[in-house]
Amino acid sequence: MANSLRYFVGNWKMFGVPGSYKILDKINQFYHKDQKNKNKYKIIMAPPDTLIYDFSKRFKNKKIIISSQNCYHQDLFGPYTGKVSPFMIKRLGVNYTLLGHSECRSAGETDEIIKKKFSLALKNNLKVIYCIGENKIQKRTKSTVKVLKKQILKVISKNNNFNNIIIAYEPIWSIGSGSIPSPSELKKNITILKNFIVKKFRIKSHPKFLYGGSVDKNTIKHFKSIKELDGFLVGGASKSSKNFIDIIKNFYK
Ligand code: 13P
Repeated sequence: MANSLRYFVGNWKMFGVPGSYKILDKINQFYHKDQKNKNKYKIIMAPPDTLIYDFSKRFKNKKIIISSQNCYHQDLFGPYTGKVSPFMIKRLGVNYTLLGHSECRSAGETDEIIKKKFSLALKNNLKVIYCIGENKIQKRTKSTVKVLKKQILKVISKNNNFNNIIIAYEPIWSIGSGSIPSPSELKKNITILKNFIVKKFRIKSHPKFLYGGSVDKNTIKHFKSIKELDGFLVGGASKSSKNFIDIIKNFYK
């Protein structure tokens, strides 16, 4: 059910200075030596906006794909202090953006705003990694699937091209907490959502789904058996080349 290619995506959040490219250099070196598995996965890294231009030039012909972490919901140029439009991101040589991260949602991004960003990003030929996730109370009250379906329906529409969309399921209670969903629960929810999307949007193949939330070299073993997962969105452990490489190594071990 999973597409055979896996994605290991790193989200640096508010981390990194120009010299941090060395972290990506090491990951890139590891990739080139990983003869056995390197054709089985893609690496995408989302540094902060300050580093995107330099990193996208440095890694242009390398294996690491650079993504932005967000973009503004107005396009081109305009009187929006501190904001960066999808058009400006694309012009940096970047082909991916994260959208809808729970940290952005909790800073005030609504579904309506995310929907605008989403269609503008796709219009600018950016591939979108769209983050969804329930909070602790929603999990406790067993509303997880309902919340996730709503987040999907509020933002994605029928005319969007699923070849350019990856969904990242990141339970809010799991981000940075060390807690992860049980593999059976995760498998069940991803399966429900993949089938839901196929039916709702009348697409031929299952959409790609990543899992994010406390993924590290130890927790990764719990996710190995979940064939429905197309990859992982890693926060804290993506800031160290060793930790990130260990995740990939342990996944294929
Ligand atoms: P952690 O891996 O630090 O839990 O963060 C996950 C995340 O928010 C990635 O977008």
